[in-house]
Parts: sequence; C-alpha cells; structure tokens
Amino acid sequence: MNPAWTIENFLEVKNNQLYISGAAAADLANRFDTPLFVFSEPRIRHNIERLKRAENAIDCRLKICYAAKANSNMAILRAVREAGGDLEVNSGGELFKALRIGFRPEQIIFNGTSKTEREIEEAIIAGIYAIQADSIYEIELIERVAQRINKPANVSLRLVPEIETDTLHGLQTALLTSKFGMMPDEALAAFRRWKPDDEFLHLCGIHLHIGSQNPNAAPYAEAFKTLFENLLIIFRETGHRLSHLNLGGGFPVNYLRDESNADDFSSEQRDFFAAELEPEEVLREAWSVVKKTAKLAEAEHLLENIELLVEPGRSVIADAGVCLTSVKNKKQRPLSEIGNRKSEIANDIWLLTDAGFNILLSMETYKWYYHLISVARAGEIPTAKYKLAGPLCDGGDVYFDIEGENRLPDYRRLPENVQPGDVLALLNCGAYSVAQMFQYNGRGLPAIVLIREGGGVELIRKRDEYADLMTNDVF
Ligand SMILES: Cc1ncc(COP(=O)(O)O)c(C=O)c1O
Repeated sequence: MNPAWTIENFLEVKNNQLYISGAAAADLANRFDTPLFVFSEPRIRHNIERLKRAENAIDCRLKICYAAKANSNMAILRAVREAGGDLEVNSGGELFKALRIGFRPEQIIFNGTSKTEREIEEAIIAGIYAIQADSIYEIELIERVAQRINKPANVSLRLVPEIETDTLHGLQTALLTSKFGMMPDEALAAFRRWKPDDEFLHLCGIHLHIGSQNPNAAPYAEAFKTLFENLLIIFRETGHRLSHLNLGGGFPVNYLRDESNADDFSSEQRDFFAAELEPEEVLREAWSVVKKTAKLAEAEHLLENIELLVEPGRSVIADAGVCLTSVKNKKQRPLSEIGNRKSEIANDIWLLTDAGFNILLSMETYKWYYHLISVARAGEIPTAKYKLAGPLCDGGDVYFDIEGENRLPDYRRLPENVQPGDVLALLNCGAYSVAQMFQYNGRGLPAIVLIREGGGVELIRKRDEYADLMTNDVF
C-alpha cells in the first residue's frame, strides 16, 4: 500500500525510492547536492487550476492573485503566470520582479503597511490593478504622488473588521490587534472624502485577509459578507460603486496527510496542521451568504459586474516544494534526567542534517511541521524514533518539541538505522521557506530546481558560493 503522503503523478514511491513528478529524488540530490529545494511545475499548475474551479461556485469573475511573498523565485513566478495566475506583491522589489517576468500591470495588486513614496510611484507609473492602502495617511500619500507625476492611481482599502479564525495568533490578520489595515469607519470616511470622479484617486475596491492556514470555511463567509455590507454602505452613503472585493488568502494545506506522527501532537495542533478546505466549497458557501444578504437589502444589482479577488500563497506553492537534506552526523545519548519528559526509549539517537531554520524559518518562528521521509527507503514503515536537528549553532535549530509546548512531536519517525549520508525529504516546504532564507553561520543559500511539465529538470537558483557570502560587504 502507498504511504499516505503520496500523491498520484506527483509524490510517488517506486522501488522504495521517492520520485517527485517523475524525477528520482536521490538522483537530484546526487546531481545538485543538498540541501536542495525541488519544485514541481505540474503541481503548481494543478493547484492554480483547483483554485480557478472556485469560479464555478460564484456568479462573478474570480481573479487569483498569487501571493508572491510565499515564494518569489523568478522561475516560480513565471510558472504561476503561465498557469494563468495573477499576482499580489508586497514591495517595490516584488513589483520589479513581477514586471520583469512578464506579468501585465492589470494582473498586479500591491499590499503592505509601510510603502515608500518610491514604491507608490513605481506602482502608479506601471498602472497596476490596485494599490491596497493601509491607512488614511497612506491614501493621502498616494494622492500626493499621483498629483506629482500627474497620473491617477487605482486604490483599494484594506479593512480590519475584527474577524477571528482558528489559526495561530501570529497568523491572524483581521483583528484590531493586528498591524494591518484600517477600520471600516475610516474607510467610509475616505470614500466620502475622495469622490467617484476624483482626478487622481480611483477608489475601486475593499480588501481584507483573515489570516493564513485557516482550518474552517465559516470565517470566509463572514469576511465576504462583511465586505459586501461595507460595499453597500459605501454605495448608499457616498455613491461609490466598487468594482472589486478582495477576500485575501489563507486557504490551508494539509501538512499531516501522513498521520504516522499525528499522535504526538495536541489535538489543537493536529487540527491546525491537518486543515483541509476546498476553495470551491468555501466560495460556494460564502457566495450564498452574500447573495442572501444582497437580496434582503434589495441590492443584488451591486453584485453585477463585481470581480472577486483572492490572494492565495500557501495553497499554490507549499505542497509543490520538497526540501532534500542529508544526514551529516549521528550520535547516541542516554536520556537526560532534566528535559526529557515523556520518552519510552532508552537512548536518544540524534541525526544532524544540513537543513536548518536558516532555510526553513517557519520551523523556528511558528514551530511548523514538515513531514519527513527517507528518500531511498520511502516505502518503508517508519518504525524508529530520532531526535532530528539542523546544522546551525543555535539550540533551537531542531525539528522537535523543546519547550514542552507540544507544538511539534518529541521525535521524528523514520526507518531503522538511518546513517550519515542518507538523504531525507521534508514535504510541503514550498511556501515561506526559500522566500525567507538567510545566510546565518556563513551558510550559503541552497540551490533550487524545478521539474518541468515534460519531466525536464531545470536549475532555477544556483547554490551560493563562499564568495556570495560577502557580495555586499564593503571592506
Ligand atoms: C494580505 C495577504 N494576502 C495573502 C496572503 C497569503 O496567505 P496564504 O499564503 O496563507 O494564502 C498573506 C499572507 O500573509 C497576506 O498577508
């Protein structure tokens, strides 16, 4: 029987070996060395098509703006564009990369809390779909820049309407305690102040993002209803007829498809990592709530010609990426009296890999779980327990629970007798990993390869050389 983490035509086991979109993971590790990120273009396309199917569930156009922050490698951006995705950027740098790889301005929206004048100017000059303003101050700044360069700006306002979800606190973004957006009252005041025929500010939409890895559909319906209620008030009180509503990102990825480690989590953590929502179902439910609200308010006409935007990051790229890492060191240790709370084994076996939190930052910041398998023994039942750690000179660079928080398992399960030199694969590593890498401990950033539609393997990021460690140092 296939292990539960396998995905037909993508993550497969043949002769006990891991294959990623037809490529043998062991060959990739041999050819490109480790740590190595491997991405699958067919999987990116599959994920975007899945999101696009959600258009069937609503009576309006759906614009899928992939959140570049999740992974903005140029070849990944190109794969997203070729799969028919539009783009959400968060900085002048991401905007630059988007335009350079061929996204058309009307495919791009620009988020962020601290945009500079230069970034705003670049966005207006490019003529993007919308700059998503974070405060009244920022709308005024956009207006000043637009006047100075004598070109109007399309602007959408980000709201914080106090919608709570069951995700981690740090991933909640629609609460007043979060740093994002403006209150609905402030947005209404802005729509009063800048009229529909304003020369330089075209206020065309409203936006919110309820957070990342949301395990339930209900907050999306609540968020969409909130957006519509705001659209209605704005129309009735100011005459502005909005052309789009932006529901943000946050569709979850199931990081626990294989449950061999699942008993080691608290039930809360398990539900969080195993979250699974079908975007089409989420939007069907949300649309029906909005439709009812519109009908009751006799305002269905406001839904005509509206465009719904979503900004998925994780659900596009997380499961399309695998991190291959080698075991570099192994040791055995009797259990310490202090610090070992619930072990059933006599000695801890430690495996030290070449992938640390410098390339998988969420492992440290959010104690994120990435399922681990042996590349050469992928079909074997993982019966042995290991303490697994990365290479960094930092006691927190480990793949297990260290603070008694029960956010990660105490041990990682792999086949018996894993040895230095063995290659392991961390699954679902594509989002918020390579986008956040850094060269801590003088560790160059890893290479990345992309497996193309036809099975060809392309290097899409060169491994750093020693010289890259000092590229911008002045000495
Ligand atoms: C405004 C906004 N949109 C979209 C996203 C993407 O979220 P996810 O990767 O969970 O889909 C984020 C993530 O932080 C965000 O802040």
